[in-house]
Amino acid sequence: MKFNEPATTNPIDQLKVVGQPIDRVDGPLKTTGTAPYAMDRHDVVPNQAHGYILGSAIPKGRIVSIDTTAAKAAPGVIAIVTAQNAGKLTKGNFNTANLLAGPRVQHYHQAVALVVAETFEQARDAAHLLRVKYERDKGDYDLKAVKTKATAPKGENAETAVGNFTGAFASAPVRLDAEYHTAHESHSMMEPHASIAAWDGDQLTVWTSNQMIAWGKGDVAKTLNLKKDKVHLMSPYIGGGFGSKLFVRADAVMAALGAKAAGRPVRVPLQRALIPNNTTHRSATIQRIRIGANRDGKITAIGHESWSGNLPEGSPENAATQTRALYAGEHRMTANKVAVMDLPEANAMRAPGEAPGMAALEIAMDEMAEKLGLDPVQFRIVNDTQVVPDNPKKEGSSDPQSKKPEEQAPHNPTPPYSKRQLVQCLQQGAERFGWNKRSAKPGQVRDGRWLVGMGVAAAFRDNLLMKSAARVRLDRRGMLTVETDMTDIGTGSYTILAQTASEMMGIPLERVKVRLGDSSFPASCGSGGQWGGNNSAAGVYAACMKLREAIARQAGFEPERAIFADGLIRVGDRSLPLAQAVGERELVGEDMIEYGDIDKRFHQSTFGAHFVEVGVDAATCEVRIRRMLAVCAAGRILNPKTARSQVIGAMTMGAGAALMEELAVDKRLGYFVNHDLAGYEVPVHADIPHQEVIFLDETDPMSSPMKAKGIAELGICGVAAAIANAVYNATGVRVREYPITLDKLI
Ligand code: MOS
Repeated sequence: MKFNEPATTNPIDQLKVVGQPIDRVDGPLKTTGTAPYAMDRHDVVPNQAHGYILGSAIPKGRIVSIDTTAAKAAPGVIAIVTAQNAGKLTKGNFNTANLLAGPRVQHYHQAVALVVAETFEQARDAAHLLRVKYERDKGDYDLKAVKTKATAPKGENAETAVGNFTGAFASAPVRLDAEYHTAHESHSMMEPHASIAAWDGDQLTVWTSNQMIAWGKGDVAKTLNLKKDKVHLMSPYIGGGFGSKLFVRADAVMAALGAKAAGRPVRVPLQRALIPNNTTHRSATIQRIRIGANRDGKITAIGHESWSGNLPEGSPENAATQTRALYAGEHRMTANKVAVMDLPEANAMRAPGEAPGMAALEIAMDEMAEKLGLDPVQFRIVNDTQVVPDNPKKEGSSDPQSKKPEEQAPHNPTPPYSKRQLVQCLQQGAERFGWNKRSAKPGQVRDGRWLVGMGVAAAFRDNLLMKSAARVRLDRRGMLTVETDMTDIGTGSYTILAQTASEMMGIPLERVKVRLGDSSFPASCGSGGQWGGNNSAAGVYAACMKLREAIARQAGFEPERAIFADGLIRVGDRSLPLAQAVGERELVGEDMIEYGDIDKRFHQSTFGAHFVEVGVDAATCEVRIRRMLAVCAAGRILNPKTARSQVIGAMTMGAGAALMEELAVDKRLGYFVNHDLAGYEVPVHADIPHQEVIFLDETDPMSSPMKAKGIAELGICGVAAAIANAVYNATGVRVREYPITLDKLI
């Protein structure tokens, strides 16, 4: 189904099921521990052997030799895989050829070998008997030290300029020029990366934990030089991904290699202490922000540069990108630069780009408001814009939606937003939070031993349109089955897709079964970048439209006039139960939703406002969050219960980024030191107070027939700055380096 015009009336608009706060349909499986995660597949994969990955002991250099003699002779050992016997690994769309090191070593804890044994303990023991000789090269591990060598990747719109930024900034009556730092961060999702691989001849099946099944299937095939149809990937339940599972990692590839070598199925969970250095992380950033404004508060010049690190050919953390879109201002510049570093691969994590970008920009806005003597809420409202002020033309044709140039809408350098309610979010939030009680002067409010302060930040995250396909089957008992390779990473996909199918077909939720995360199902948008909910539901909508047509034809009704409600198909006063309309066999509808050039005519983003109150211990400088409020405008909310859970989880991640999360780099030895959940701190319940979430009433007919947009990652973007601004308001100490630990306040 092509979707190129605003969605008008459609069955979803009934909102009998969609838009309702339905409990998660997978809830009982989750809470009773019976949802089968990758490592739980004992039942379907008998005779599993255990694989243990040995990670490199050096960050950069060469493997001179691996002596496997002692390991091979150890009890229970079945096979040992290294680069010497693994065969050639081909680079997939992502960096998959480097999932096994040798002879080059690219980063610390890069897989050097997989030991396969009868038990996990035997595999682990034998792995420590491997004798690896390395030759170590010098590497770069300090972002500050290599910052000047950073470059803007070509062909990716890494740098933009509008008007004359330098001149306008120099002549602005009020100016801010400040540098902000965000830390290296680790996803730290609950379920580790884990895979079971089994071969049947040349057919490979992998049970894994992965957000993007179609990408994963393609990359496993490419890496192992297999035809795509020889790979079957399954990931029906996922214990969190946060971006770390957008890509196939060493567990999947090494399990496949191990299973081949062992001649039987092999399971490979990545041990927790391997994950931060073996897999991906979010790079630290250094960000310079310059804002110039007139005395009335209107921004005349805004510049945002970001520096981050990555392995050779790696992408930058695009922390400056939202600054092209969020606030008005005639003269502008942005740059996302990346320096080659020899730490593990940097990649997407929890709202890549905007999460660290907003963490810096929204402190800068707070600082600027203070210089202007304006309330920070008011300063943001004064600089609202209903068009994107700096929309660079997309370069290259890597865009999967791209068409021939003559079929595309002409490039608009300042496209309007499809919907933008930032001002409304700020105003409603301020009222709800009691913002008028905030003291503009910092360090004025005391509650016992606590210095108390309030902070605000805007929230912003783009809404992406992706192709997504699904299949729906109606059987003779009137049961509907939805099949799509969409994943549920703990987000509620099962539930909103069941709601969508139920609404579309006019049958109760209990009669809908949703099957996800299997590469034999139609390829969906997958779970990433907060695009999963809206796009995958739109795919199910399209498949249901096909099924409605098939049912109507089978039953001899005019498809255009047929109404589906109460388990019936009805035209005028003639009706028929759906189960009867099916006929002898099941009826199937399958379709893919595909967008035209809507996203070139309108910019689609989600907006919000974060309000935070903190207490800072006057003696120890310990920071405690006391209250949090998020107001979000993100299109139609498909399920207010699952959406709220998404946002409170996101706000919690923002609190982590603000106050505790940091991978500490050993700059001599070149690795992340605190590579487990004891040393890498994330918020626990005691760190998080009552959180309130408000959704503004919004439908966005440009985003899909669902009229919804992404919601999850919006909840992260801006939170850290709201906390930093509250800490400043409480104490008068401006911290520009995350995480805001107490040593920075003393
Ligand atoms: Mo998200 S960091 O795109 O999974």
